Amino acid sequence: MQQEILPSIRVPRSRTYKTHQRLRAEIQRALEPILYGSMSAAYACRQQLEADFARAMGQRYACAVHSGTVGLFLALRASGVEAGAEVITVGNSDISTTAAIVHCGATPVLCDIRAEDLTIDVSKVEMLITSRTRAILPVDLYGHPADVRSLRAIAQRHDLQIVEDAALATGAADYGHPVATFAHATVFSFAPFKPLGCAGNGAMITTDDETIARRLHTLAGYGHAKDDEVVLPGHQRYAAEGFNVPMDPLQAALVSVKLPYLPQWTERRREIARAYRDGLQNTAAQLPSFRRESEPTFRCYTIRVPRREKAYAMLLEAGVEIALHYTPPIYDHPGYSGPTVSDNSLPVTKQMAGELLCLPVAPELSQNDVDYVIEQVRACLRKLGL
Ligand SMILES: Cc1ncc(COP(=O)(O)O)c(C=O)c1O
Repeated sequence: MQQEILPSIRVPRSRTYKTHQRLRAEIQRALEPILYGSMSAAYACRQQLEADFARAMGQRYACAVHSGTVGLFLALRASGVEAGAEVITVGNSDISTTAAIVHCGATPVLCDIRAEDLTIDVSKVEMLITSRTRAILPVDLYGHPADVRSLRAIAQRHDLQIVEDAALATGAADYGHPVATFAHATVFSFAPFKPLGCAGNGAMITTDDETIARRLHTLAGYGHAKDDEVVLPGHQRYAAEGFNVPMDPLQAALVSVKLPYLPQWTERRREIARAYRDGLQNTAAQLPSFRRESEPTFRCYTIRVPRREKAYAMLLEAGVEIALHYTPPIYDHPGYSGPTVSDNSLPVTKQMAGELLCLPVAPELSQNDVDYVIEQVRACLRKLGL
């Protein structure tokens, strides 16, 4: 029924299945020992992905978990965020970001964003710090790196932890280093539409801090103590009341096959973003711009347009799978339980939420697809008299 009313999509948000088809032999080889070997092969595969991913992000440790949502919660817990604490974050993110804070019994304190790249406005962070602030949770929204290096200087001054939400930013870099470099812990999501997606759920938490890494593995694995903490050989020992949320080994095997291709897919995403930028210059669409040091990846390409709702409907009608990611702001959703946000306290967040449109970006899109999107956006703006 629903299909009848949906316009046919000519340029989709993703064609990941094509990549999986192309890598079919490699994927099947990786799944083989997990499906038909011993469980130790499955655990070894997940451990290998943790080691490879940590290396790719320039970090010493990684912990593979069920999802970015649970990853953010565990990273906050492992960083010492407890009931009664405050965590500074942004209002233009997925519910997972603020929910992770609330699940710790802590309170999200929302900071405004920069209009240019839609990430946290570092100049407004320090005025939000109170005696209860324990951590800052910047979000690399849409794949745009937040300025975590500058945040780290603030965190150092006030003895705060930084947990970076890089759910959408696998492959992005800043100041010449992969995102994750300047945070105490960073969470990457492998959900299907993310820059490095699996076929279900999965995520990785990276850190350079051995204590955080140990806590993460303990919390993700029921609360079991690490082998070197077991006092009586053969006996179980629980070091915490934990959860059972490691990444599924089948998904870990799939991500392991895909990880080496990440740099080339990131480059293709950047190429598509450059084509959108060039094709939409001198139109009424406002395009994102980035700090000199920022090397984003593009989960999608964000443009800002007047009469956004109309433009959204027209582009969808033209077969472009346009999206409205992270609008309205999180504090306008019924599920948000953090402090009320007054109308004028986050002016940039509010304005962006009313203007943003996300154009499709995926490594599998062809030049024809990209040209078609540009043509349709230009035509739409013309028809709207903009
Ligand atoms: C910014 C952001 N953070 C966290 C998450 C949660 O990741 P996951 O879907 O793996 O739970 C998402 C999911 O879309 C997200 O967009």
